[in-house]
Amino acid sequence: MCGIVGYIGSEEAAPILIRGLKKLEYRGYDSAGIAVLGAGGLEVCKSKGALRFLEEKIQSGTGKALTGSAGIGHTRWATHGEPSDINSHPHTDVSGKIAVVHNGIIENHAKLKAWLEAHGVSFRSETDTEVIAHLIDFHFNGDLLQAVLEALKRLEGSYALGIICEEDPERIIAVRRESPLVIGAGKGENLIASDVPALLEHTRDVYYLEDREAAVLYRDHVEFYSEEGEVRRKELSHVEWDAAAAEKGGYAHFMLKEIHDQPKALTDTLRPRLKTDGPPARRSISLEEIGFDGSWAEAGRVVIAACGTAWHAAMIGKYAFEHLTRIPADADIASEYRYRDPIFDRKDIFIIISQSGETADTLAAMRMAKKSGARIIAITNVVGSTLAREADLVMYTWAGPEIAVASTKAFTTQLMCIYLIALQFGLLRGTITEEGLPGYIDALEQLSGQADKLLADKETIQRFAYQQFNKSKVFYMGRLFDYAVSLESALKLKEVSYTHSEAFAAGELKHGPIALVDDSTLVVAICTQSALFEKMDSNIKEVKARGAATAVITYDDVSRFDKTADVVFRIPRTLESLSPILSVIPCQLYAYYIAVQRGLDPDKPRNLAKSVTVE
Ligand code: G6P
Repeated sequence: MCGIVGYIGSEEAAPILIRGLKKLEYRGYDSAGIAVLGAGGLEVCKSKGALRFLEEKIQSGTGKALTGSAGIGHTRWATHGEPSDINSHPHTDVSGKIAVVHNGIIENHAKLKAWLEAHGVSFRSETDTEVIAHLIDFHFNGDLLQAVLEALKRLEGSYALGIICEEDPERIIAVRRESPLVIGAGKGENLIASDVPALLEHTRDVYYLEDREAAVLYRDHVEFYSEEGEVRRKELSHVEWDAAAAEKGGYAHFMLKEIHDQPKALTDTLRPRLKTDGPPARRSISLEEIGFDGSWAEAGRVVIAACGTAWHAAMIGKYAFEHLTRIPADADIASEYRYRDPIFDRKDIFIIISQSGETADTLAAMRMAKKSGARIIAITNVVGSTLAREADLVMYTWAGPEIAVASTKAFTTQLMCIYLIALQFGLLRGTITEEGLPGYIDALEQLSGQADKLLADKETIQRFAYQQFNKSKVFYMGRLFDYAVSLESALKLKEVSYTHSEAFAAGELKHGPIALVDDSTLVVAICTQSALFEKMDSNIKEVKARGAATAVITYDDVSRFDKTADVVFRIPRTLESLSPILSVIPCQLYAYYIAVQRGLDPDKPRNLAKSVTVE
């Protein structure tokens, strides 16, 4: 977690750093700070709390002058040391000439601290980061790059760093190991950031740093080195997102905007993967980007691993693979998988899903699978992320930047990718025929318009949320695909509204969960699997008899729940295996509206971060 930025150019650095940090607040928001290099040397200002407290401090003059055209900044999600002014970054050496911002964890910081203290250094903060500033100072002899490279030799753990020094003032040093860092190449100015949205105001030309690489940013050029000091050449990448894609676009919150982005994101993710062959004209799927050929049909098993919302996409992937391809499929929580003793087979195919492409547990699971010799397909939203760079093959979700901590459009576009891969597998294995495929493609194409239709009626959910606002327990239940959507819906609600919400496989209700049901409970039953309607109907009656308020989410042509449930929400009819993309939308909206009614900020839930780059 944590977001870092840096700027060197001809403009005042402080406002640029603050605007960059605003784009990164989703990475952490318990404190923030900046350091600026100007004629008067190095000035630092930092503050506990949201970024606006730092801004107020700078404006009120409590922070110093902060003028100068080079600087670094940080927004924090605490790991070592509570959120406080002192523990906020940037951290400086004893003399205050070197400033460091850091995203990651220095695992051997206690040992380094003891060693530095034995050499007379006194520490001010409880952070792991402060050792870096002192270590660089220890090796500093007028050349900041050399001092940084020397210091890196002693660091264990993960880091993305931005470093400036008043005795070497014409450059910023940036390095990374297992934490993301992007370099923005502007005209007469260069920047660093943890993520692309923080750069877009200045440039769309970026360099992605690899692990154990350093960048040296001057005003007019950037140099790259290995951690051993060898010169590296790097290719510039052009980012297609525009700055507006990373803004709220008139919505009150990013979460609501991103829920509304889904129709377009679904189309953007699907369209580039469709083609028409002929004559006679026949629609098919093209997955050239992930190098699909006949050899894939020999896969013995598909394992899908991920965390959080992406794990729920993985569960739906398991059901989709079993249903569409008849290949054995498993869905695993990456943080469990990495510590198990899993059995690998070289014929396994691993699909690793991560919006950010930076989740530490997910990356660890991928690396284990890769070591075993299995083929790895990454599904991620972030071009150039660690997952994208280390996987064998990458399929991007073209959702655009997802800023709200609670994932919405990343989830539905992850599902779109999963369905495309499963259908292509099915075609290769003969479980889907050439004649049958266009029916699936049509259904996939309709999902965007159907999502639009659902969103046009969002006030129905808003009203319902208003009525149910006092419910202290909200349970979601469903079977098969609907169970996975229940898990995602319960997660959404607890993430943003702090309601006690859980998901149950409806068949498990009688094995325990029903003991929790009383008249303070709302039970939402997701019912899109027609073979199980009767069973779901009974489950709804069971919870209703115990006093629960009940809501059902089902298709617009199904009336059988009208008499059973208190309220029925309808989604457009689609193929039953594709229904999760639609049935999750009312649940996303419900979570959003409950959070807003409780006066909470759904974009920045307490204790959570968008990207969990530590274990
Ligand atoms: C965090 C976020 C979740 C997200 C999960 C996995 O917990 O708060 O919204 O689903 O990480 O993130 P990833 O980037 O790997 O999809």
